[in-house]
Amino acid sequence: MNSQTDLVPAPAGAPAPSNAAESVSQHDAQHAQFVDWMRSVAPYIHAFQGKTFVVGFGGEVVHQNLLNALVADIALLQAMGIQIVLVHGSRPQVEEQMSLHGVESEFSHGMRITNARALESAKEAAGEVRLDIEAAISQGLPNTPMAHAHISVVSGNFVTARPVGILDGVDFQHTGVVRKIDADSIRHSLASRKLVLLSPLGFSPTGEAFNLSMEDVASAAAIALRADKIVFLTETQGLINEENELIREMSLDDAYKLQESGTVLGDAGFYLKHSIRACRGGVGRAHIIPYSLDGGLLLELFLHDGVGTMISYENLESLREATPDDVGGILTLIEPLETDGTLVRRGRHQIERDIDHFSVIEHDGVLFGCAALYAYSQERIGEMACLTVSPEAQGSGDGERLLRRIEQRARARGLTRIFVLTTRTEHWFLKRGFVKANVDDLPEDRRRLYNWQRKSLVLMKQL
Ligand SMILES: CC(C)(COP(=O)(O)OP(=O)(O)OC[C@H]1O[C@@H](n2cnc3c(N)ncnc32)[C@H](O)[C@@H]1OP(=O)(O)O)[C@@H](O)C(=O)NCCC(=O)NCCS
Repeated sequence: MNSQTDLVPAPAGAPAPSNAAESVSQHDAQHAQFVDWMRSVAPYIHAFQGKTFVVGFGGEVVHQNLLNALVADIALLQAMGIQIVLVHGSRPQVEEQMSLHGVESEFSHGMRITNARALESAKEAAGEVRLDIEAAISQGLPNTPMAHAHISVVSGNFVTARPVGILDGVDFQHTGVVRKIDADSIRHSLASRKLVLLSPLGFSPTGEAFNLSMEDVASAAAIALRADKIVFLTETQGLINEENELIREMSLDDAYKLQESGTVLGDAGFYLKHSIRACRGGVGRAHIIPYSLDGGLLLELFLHDGVGTMISYENLESLREATPDDVGGILTLIEPLETDGTLVRRGRHQIERDIDHFSVIEHDGVLFGCAALYAYSQERIGEMACLTVSPEAQGSGDGERLLRRIEQRARARGLTRIFVLTTRTEHWFLKRGFVKANVDDLPEDRRRLYNWQRKSLVLMKQL
């Protein structure tokens, strides 16, 4: 990894080191930052591998020259083993074509009425955007972290459409809705590591073309593919609550209530509707994020709090007992703390053996916290060990929830006290009802293992 420094440029505006010592410490800081970052994203890379994400975005992304940055991020996701279906819109391009050909826009019920001339404009616009996207994907991504990555992209007649028909006396003509998605063919392409690109046009079995909305195509494709995520890159920040704050996460039930309240209007309401549709149809999560934020897709997927709104079918955060599948996640959580001496080192083997002792907190499929209980039944006392909350989730009460869970487990086993051995977290425990105790207060078996060099404090709590 020595070539790393050649590949990763110094952050813009970083001061030039004035001497060798400064240069070394700057390097050390950069290395530490890099390692921290790599470790923080590792659980996501693991969790996302082999998953299917549908990413929908409007033609505005192409119009505003944001395409290359998005394509580089998509290439990165693909390189991590995520299967991607891209769905593009083409609204500004359709408007452009229509005004070029002198065709008037007509709307009703929040939809465009597509007459024969408007359909020609929609076809031209979709073709133009599709070609721009294919060109961006084919260019080898120069000057990006994904330089020389080659991605094969497939587009085709994956979408069957039907006409919207006549609503309240208004004939929508060539405006359509998705009737069917050819999920098998898409899956086949994804399985051979191809990126699938869908346009907002569909065809009826009689060969007629219909103008569709990007959101309809994206949500229908996500449902048909049983995708793990659907992400809408939008002109909005995400969904906003009554206090005008960004809603970071919400359950499907709450999303439905928000929709019913009628307070989310316009485009945001449309994204909300299709996110609800996707989650109801079995898609794990729907994300609504701004397209204007450089790297927004990566930030949403790889940061605990994300940057937009995430809607999920089930409760996102769960506190539960660990299973053998959690061994890797627990090791990822505790290893940095073992390295810096906060926790006593335990190997994979020991975690595997003791996995039943652990409780974990999981968020969106990734572990963010753990703690273990070791019971000394004869003395009716238990040790809480390995209490860890990942740095990005600290300060939101997860540590306290884990402590309560361990206390519950201890009570259920008839224990009357729990203790911890700590070198750096004394005040956290004192604030939560622990009091200082002595090594002599430990159960006999634990006392014999006490490490006198480490000089950990013994803190005890009556249950
Ligand atoms: C200790 C730890 C588990 C707390 O997790 P958490 O989810 O942040 O805890 P909570 O959200 O319930 O509590 C946060 C509070 O604890 C405080 N806190 C965090 N670490 C602390 C420490 N080492 N000493 C004293 N207080 C601490 C925070 O400042 C915050 O205070 P506030 O509520 O007044 O703002 C977490 O900081 C951690 O994993 N630390 C590293 C591992 C460790 O020390 N484990 C204990 C080994 S014995």
